[in-house]
Amino acid sequence: MTGDFGFGAMIDKLKKSPKTIVFTEGCDPRILEASSRLLASSFLKPILIGFPDDIYSAAEEAGFNIRGAKIIDPNNFDDIDKMVDTFVELRKSKGVTPEEAREMLGKPNYFGTMLVKMGYADALLGGATYSTADTVRPALQLIKTKPGNKIVSSCFILVRPGATNGNEVLAMGDCAINIKPNEDELVEIAEETIKCARLFGVDPSVAFLSYSTDGSGKGEDVDKMRNAARKTKQKNPTVPIDGEMQFDAAVSSRVAQKKFPTSEVAGHANTFIFPDINAGNIGYKIAQRLGRFDAYGPILLGLNSPINDLSRGCNAIEVYSMAIITAALA
Ligand SMILES: CC(C)(COP(=O)(O)OP(=O)(O)OC[C@H]1O[C@@H](n2cnc3c(N)ncnc32)[C@H](O)[C@@H]1OP(=O)(O)O)[C@@H](O)C(=O)NCCC(=O)NCCS
Repeated sequence: MTGDFGFGAMIDKLKKSPKTIVFTEGCDPRILEASSRLLASSFLKPILIGFPDDIYSAAEEAGFNIRGAKIIDPNNFDDIDKMVDTFVELRKSKGVTPEEAREMLGKPNYFGTMLVKMGYADALLGGATYSTADTVRPALQLIKTKPGNKIVSSCFILVRPGATNGNEVLAMGDCAINIKPNEDELVEIAEETIKCARLFGVDPSVAFLSYSTDGSGKGEDVDKMRNAARKTKQKNPTVPIDGEMQFDAAVSSRVAQKKFPTSEVAGHANTFIFPDINAGNIGYKIAQRLGRFDAYGPILLGLNSPINDLSRGCNAIEVYSMAIITAALA
């Protein structure tokens, strides 16, 4: 894997079929900077949620040109009655009333998600100021999982720029959504992470991570990872998949030789499946903060439409990159 980890191909794809993306936090300076950059291109048009006067003055104050951006104010949206009806219908099993729906649609995260659901926009990116849960929950409730999937999960793509051999690109799942996935959920997480890794040019070699390598340790989490690896391999016999294994055995050929010499993955894994969100979230951040990897994600997997969450610590370049990644998945 060399070059731009598939980013150029994503832009080319969008140039052939331009898309629109909703930003739920229309006044945030990072969103405004990324929007001004997108507006200067022709392949992805931003839709900013918020009160127009507030957005224009925030843009002016921050010094970004957002001329041409579509701005939608949830409190002044022509089709709000239609949106309320659709919302009530989508949430009828929960007994949501029109009044409750109207109140929820006053919030940019729910309103923006409904813009995607009803086809006013192709994709959504939020979370520059909201928590992951507040960005993801409306998508889980309204956009739902795509046919064949039982859960929504996520992965991070980690990219470390290389001097001569191109970028080093890794995939890690699920570091952001499912708190304690069971065996079958881990199989689904792995299969979705494999697909996502391929979109970024990774030829997946998949390690199910644990504190144990090939039975060296005991415990239900060890069994969970070993069984999930076996089930995933059974369903995907041509993909290198193995586990359970420790992280050092997964990436170091010297350690792999000692701890797991029979493994087709150990020593050169590039796609990592974590046992739970604690391990995954801490793990990707160690790679990002101490390993000099750029982290793209969480990229939500298994949803009917592309909706993604930003880290609250993100910068404008990350917003721009995630917008392109999100829209290219549409
Ligand atoms: C994703 C998350 C927000 C969902 O929590 P929640 O909203 O409390 O979940 P609930 O159990 O109330 O479910 C809300 C809806 O989402 C659905 N849902 C929850 N988790 C889901 C999943 N992984 N996949 C698909 N649907 C899911 C539920 O079925 C429910 O749908 P319904 O209202 O139509 O019945 C929660 O799992 C979470 O907080 N994860 C960690 C997020 C985080 O902090 N990450 C770290 C920072 S990156």
